[in-house]
Amino acid sequence: MQDQDTDREPGAPDTAPGLSRRAVVAGAGVAALGVTLAVTGCSTAPTSSGESGGGSAPAPAPAAAGTALGPASDVPVGGGRIYEAQGVAVTQPTAGTYEGFSLTCTHKGCTINQIANNQLVCPCHGSKFALDGGVVQGPAERGLDSRPVNVTNGQITLA
Ligand code: FES
Repeated sequence: MQDQDTDREPGAPDTAPGLSRRAVVAGAGVAALGVTLAVTGCSTAPTSSGESGGGSAPAPAPAAAGTALGPASDVPVGGGRIYEAQGVAVTQPTAGTYEGFSLTCTHKGCTINQIANNQLVCPCHGSKFALDGGVVQGPAERGLDSRPVNVTNGQITLA
């Protein structure tokens, strides 16, 4: 049987008892891969309201019925707004039609934290949802959970 440490430079320090240099290098590669996965697994991106997103943290449970969200004029026609603290997004697919959704991604539960190009975007694995909550792009396989809202006197509240 050959020596496992034949690629060690002359005079280079020994790695560790029982570990060849290859084993140490391979271990470092696995560790680096783990760091890469952790960094790309979930990221934080700004919300449409400029707040920082929740990354992989679970979305807060939608607030109770009757909770005021704000003026309806904050939700653009053909777009939407994220109310991160209340755990909901409100969209206005057509003028005067408001729809509310949980911010919890139906793939693995990350927080939807951005609306871009009229789609609600999950930062974790890139799922995208239409303004009606339906899946536009996976890996999510089902739409966002509805969280109905009311609009009265120009103010949005959770129904
Ligand atoms: Fe949203 Fe995976 S948790 S795409």
